[in-house]
Amino acid sequence: MKNIAVIGAGTMGNGIAHTFAQTGFKVQLIDINEDSLKKGIETITNNLDRMVAKDRITEDQKQQTLSNISTFTDLTEGVKSADLVVEAATENSELKLKIFKQLDDICSKDTILATNTSSISITQIAAATMRPKQVIGMHFMNPVPIMKLVEIIRGYNTSDEVTKTIMELSKTLGKDPVEVNDYPGFVANRILMPMLNESIETLYNGVAGVTEIDTVMKLGMAHPMGPLQLADFIGLDVCLSILNVMYDGFKNPKYAPCPLLVNMVRAGKLGIKSGEGFYDYSESRKAEKVAEQFLK
Ligand SMILES: NC(=O)c1ccc[n+]([C@@H]2O[C@H](COP(=O)([O-])OP(=O)(O)OC[C@H]3O[C@@H](n4cnc5c(N)ncnc54)[C@H](O)[C@@H]3O)[C@@H](O)[C@H]2O)c1
Repeated sequence: MKNIAVIGAGTMGNGIAHTFAQTGFKVQLIDINEDSLKKGIETITNNLDRMVAKDRITEDQKQQTLSNISTFTDLTEGVKSADLVVEAATENSELKLKIFKQLDDICSKDTILATNTSSISITQIAAATMRPKQVIGMHFMNPVPIMKLVEIIRGYNTSDEVTKTIMELSKTLGKDPVEVNDYPGFVANRILMPMLNESIETLYNGVAGVTEIDTVMKLGMAHPMGPLQLADFIGLDVCLSILNVMYDGFKNPKYAPCPLLVNMVRAGKLGIKSGEGFYDYSESRKAEKVAEQFLK
């Protein structure tokens, strides 16, 4: 594999593009929004600058990484020579089904189509194509250049060969891939989201305050970040949407989102990205500090 097309230049897409480019792949970064592409390249450049400052890479490696990335707003143009497409567009099943149908029409028949979805069924996405054996979940963690895990999700029809190729490729990126099957929440979110939801429920029931709950989990369970802060970091809207997918998928009330979470999302309190969630991030430096503390 040489050419990797990444769809979506947001939080995850720019991290995925960075990681492939730094490993020496040619990356075509595609977004419908010109501004997102500009911001994505800015983020990659800032992150590379930080790595140079910490002596993790040289200035030459930074330049080489940047020169491996080209940007596109046109999907057909961007995926033309791709051996692998990693889709990291907005988490919306209608949008993803549409993108995969288009990809199936325009990509070469050997191209593997991967999605970074947090919760949408890989089997359902694969069914929008005529190549379900070549569709797979490649669930990177945020921030992608730092986090070692990639959850590799096999759809119902994903072939052994494609799974093996993507597992090997993830290792080439310096990641530790874990193979899982396609059920709602996969493994990471199936376990994480009920814990975050329960910590919100604990707050909602008045058992303890925000800092108390986070302190118990940080100091008592050696979690690097408290669950309420982690929910802010992920985005409360994202947490709600993943819980709803699991609630719908399993028809089990244990995944029902806490009413406080639902209300906070309705009120526009989405965590770091909106400036307020369980904590106040109105001074932008505060959000950066949280991120830096987490990234150490
Ligand atoms: N944020 C996380 O912590 C996280 C972690 C793991 C997985 N994910 C998954 O990664 C995916 C992306 O999430 P994100 O947080 O980076 O979102 P984001 O909102 O930061 O970025 C999404 C980008 O997709 C672009 N986009 C929308 N429609 C498009 C289209 N048709 N073609 C090309 N680009 C398009 C948007 O312009 C935007 O730049 C989602 O599926 C999400 O569930 C997110």
